[in-house]
Amino acid sequence: MNQIYGKLIKCLESIRQKTDFQPETALILGSGLGDYADDIQIEATVEYSEIDGFPVSTVPGHKGRFVFGYVDKTPVVIMQGRVHYYEGYSMSDVVLPTRLMGMLGAKKLILTNAAGGINFKFQPGDFMMITDHITTAIPSPLLGANLDELGPRFPDMSQVYSARMQDIIRKNAAEMGITLREGVYVQLTGPAYETPAEIRMCRSWGADAVGMSTACEAMAARHMGLEICGISCITNLAAGMSKKELNHQEVQETADRVAKQFKELISRIIVTV
Ligand code: HPA
Repeated sequence: MNQIYGKLIKCLESIRQKTDFQPETALILGSGLGDYADDIQIEATVEYSEIDGFPVSTVPGHKGRFVFGYVDKTPVVIMQGRVHYYEGYSMSDVVLPTRLMGMLGAKKLILTNAAGGINFKFQPGDFMMITDHITTAIPSPLLGANLDELGPRFPDMSQVYSARMQDIIRKNAAEMGITLREGVYVQLTGPAYETPAEIRMCRSWGADAVGMSTACEAMAARHMGLEICGISCITNLAAGMSKKELNHQEVQETADRVAKQFKELISRIIVTV
């Protein structure tokens, strides 16, 4: 068996020994949203460290576990803490948890993150619905022998983010009175924030927001045929766009400031998609 697929099966079996919960929707929580999982009707939790061979996050403040439960009547699996490429894992390890959620039965995936705003119209605290992404600057999570069990060798990426889900997000944001931004997310490796020149390059590529996660997960999930949507919390203006230096604390503070609204939007999306 392919080594990467073998690892996935081992992790899946390890989780299945702990819970037989059948999720419909998967959710990945970004900075500031971590405690969302504590508020749902929890049926089971599985710590990443309990799963054989699972990549464990090293970022301070990032919890590492799957939470299974219900948001209203919708069965969900939530990644409370994600794995980032900048931590030193291979891309196949970075997307392993995403793939696992698909293998656990989730058909839909909601991605969230903190991102730097590249679009001049964006302000810290804005929400940007991801309409498309750019992964050109990171290794593809699909490199290597294709996992035929999961999807095709040359998967289509012409609509990674579901038009149907985007309509639902627009409607819910409008009902909440949120000015929803829309745009293209570019993923870079991090962990350093970008230089102003890199941000100008990203803008010329067509990116509206920049971050260090999400697009690789979206690609792996799309390969498996999941229906995907994503929302970025714009936590700061990207490098060179303000006089301020960038730091993780500012990212965290902005994410915390709008967390309540972000969580309500996510709950609404889960129950309506
Ligand atoms: N750059 C990259 N990742 C980020 C940023 C940023 O400005 N803000 C939050 N995550």
